[in-house]
Amino acid sequence: MTISDTMQKAFNDQFNAELQAALIYKQLGLELDRLSLVGMRDWMRKQVEEEFSHAHSFSDHILARGGQVTISTLTVPELNIQTAKDAFQAALDHEKKVSSLIRDLAATAESEGDLDSRQLIDHYLTEQINEEDAVSEILDRLELVGNDGAGILRIDAELGQR
Ligand SMILES: [Fe+2]
Repeated sequence: MTISDTMQKAFNDQFNAELQAALIYKQLGLELDRLSLVGMRDWMRKQVEEEFSHAHSFSDHILARGGQVTISTLTVPELNIQTAKDAFQAALDHEKKVSSLIRDLAATAESEGDLDSRQLIDHYLTEQINEEDAVSEILDRLELVGNDGAGILRIDAELGQR
């Protein structure tokens, strides 16, 4: 079914939110590189790619249904990262925001009766649970090691294996 104007706007907004997420992860990677935590930097680089692939699935959906996709003006908020924990806390905060946007998207699709997007949106509702869980787990482990340099470096090495 050809996409409605309302759904096109909703998906376009989500497409841009995923691109913005990619930029935020890019910035977090740069901050971690500055802190010489290169494994965590590499983890963030992988996440940048993942966010681009999320953006692609939304733009592909719009285009497959005869719509148009537009990149909006994207900005990265001030993040103020001093530690690894700050970086993963910022990542979790952003994932929670994205989760809430996906829920809004689901509500819009439901009120529009847009059955064609149901599978895609359901996939992303589940994806967000996994995204939040993965980042929360890293944060918990950073919490456990606290300021222990050896512990932080071990987590850094593990995350570099991603
Ligand atoms: Fe995403």
